[in-house]
Amino acid sequence: MLPGGAGAPSLPKPPLMSDVDDEIPEPAERTGDQPVVLVSNRGPVSYGVDGSAKRGTGGLVTALMGLASHRQSVWVASSLTEGDRAVAEEAGSAAIQIEAPTGGEFDVRLVNSDPEAYDGFYNVVANPMLWFIQHYLWDLSNAPYIRQGEIDAFDYGYKQVNKDLADAVVEEYDRHGEPVVMVHDYHFYLLPKMVREQRPGVFLHHFIHIPWTQPDSWRVLPRRIREEIFDGILSNDIIGFHTRSYRWNFMQCCRDLMGLEVDFDKGVVIARDGREVWVRAYPLPIDWRMTKRLAASEDTKHYEEELLRRRREFLIIRVDRADLSKNVLRGFAAFDLFLEQHPEFLERVTFVAQLIPSRTDVPEYAEYLEKIEALVAVVNHHHGTPDWMPIQLKLRDNLEEALAAYKHYDVLLVNAMFDGMNLVAKEGPLVNTRSGVSILSENTGAHEVLGEHAISVNPFDIQELADAFHRALTMSPFERDVRWKGLERIVHSTDPGEWIDAQLADIERKSSGQRPVAVPPPEPG
Ligand code: G6P
Repeated sequence: MLPGGAGAPSLPKPPLMSDVDDEIPEPAERTGDQPVVLVSNRGPVSYGVDGSAKRGTGGLVTALMGLASHRQSVWVASSLTEGDRAVAEEAGSAAIQIEAPTGGEFDVRLVNSDPEAYDGFYNVVANPMLWFIQHYLWDLSNAPYIRQGEIDAFDYGYKQVNKDLADAVVEEYDRHGEPVVMVHDYHFYLLPKMVREQRPGVFLHHFIHIPWTQPDSWRVLPRRIREEIFDGILSNDIIGFHTRSYRWNFMQCCRDLMGLEVDFDKGVVIARDGREVWVRAYPLPIDWRMTKRLAASEDTKHYEEELLRRRREFLIIRVDRADLSKNVLRGFAAFDLFLEQHPEFLERVTFVAQLIPSRTDVPEYAEYLEKIEALVAVVNHHHGTPDWMPIQLKLRDNLEEALAAYKHYDVLLVNAMFDGMNLVAKEGPLVNTRSGVSILSENTGAHEVLGEHAISVNPFDIQELADAFHRALTMSPFERDVRWKGLERIVHSTDPGEWIDAQLADIERKSSGQRPVAVPPPEPG
């Protein structure tokens, strides 16, 4: 059936993205004089063996690129490819200058680590150990088994890579005249202490993009390792999270696991050495201007045509990294149940799942991908017909193809078990043209800001999710429109520049000796 055919809700005609494009105002230019050193595992650029550069995408890179290109800055990141290693080798301790897509230039310093150390750092400790703890993913009766191999991966892998980047940070700190150091994510919990030991006066800010879980989930780690992690991260001056609830969990961990003094209202932890550490929440917005521009591009249009040619009356989509935390299997199980319970939707709806293979050297991830493919085959076999495949699985990383799907979905599924923020939940409604409905897990950071306009689901409740598909697909055009407009308005109302500004304002406040502003606790529920 063609889009908008019999039975499809009649929806207001969307504006053409190309028209909208002309009206997108540029953000206010943000400049500042304090230099910054940014630190993340995945940097803003990556090189092929032929030396060709590929710019990083994703919310974090885009958000930080804005900051980096508007002030004196250097971005310290790990070498991830052979090409990166060659470029880093040639540059020595010098930085490489790269151009930001929005104009301006900034320096990048790629750091080579010993490949075996990096393997332990990335494939054993960061993913899965810390990632699983921070998303409640361990099936504790089966895993993890912490043996000498895991301990060594921490002592000689995680620690070593943290040290490699810490040394580069110290060099850049000296070179740039006491910049603020802004560290990102769970890869570098030990780095702040290593930097502070060498440069006691440094201002360290650390943003954690994934959930912070409650104290008991951290008891998986041997006490010595756990304490090194907390001492490492508490060497920062400010620690930021996406939500008030992760911030709260972190403070509870400091109190319950480390016995530290915590002021929950002010968000202050007193570290073992007596320093005050501020714990704040800054929800990351998406760069809506750039997302809209890309959605209006010729490449995206090409994928739209392809999608529309195959489209049935209704389209459900999901776009995710193929990560266990994204809860892909329960999403397909719920779709299976929905088709079972509502056979009137057979042949009328397609579920397009675009999944980006991720961390495939970690056995748990490789197995997960196999399970996904097997379940898709079962559901398609169960309900499919010679000319209708209920689930279309696209295992690839293609931003324009994802944007094309965002523009035309009736239902966007984001059912992560736990997720730091989830930017898909924001990008989808921003560019959707059919007043599409969002089904959103209540355990995503995005839910704290978007929940009221989405259909909220408990990601473990498959019947609830099957019911949510039915509710979304039978929702009146009026309700769809009201909900979608609510989502779109929120996503539009802020940009990454403001996210950065809020962090810089706190840095300024703390370094000038002011008191922290009280933050309300998370909402119960
Ligand atoms: C999450 C993390 C990022 C990470 C990304 C992709 O969003 O917060 O730090 O870069 O996943 O994971 P990868 O292991 O491919 O870098």
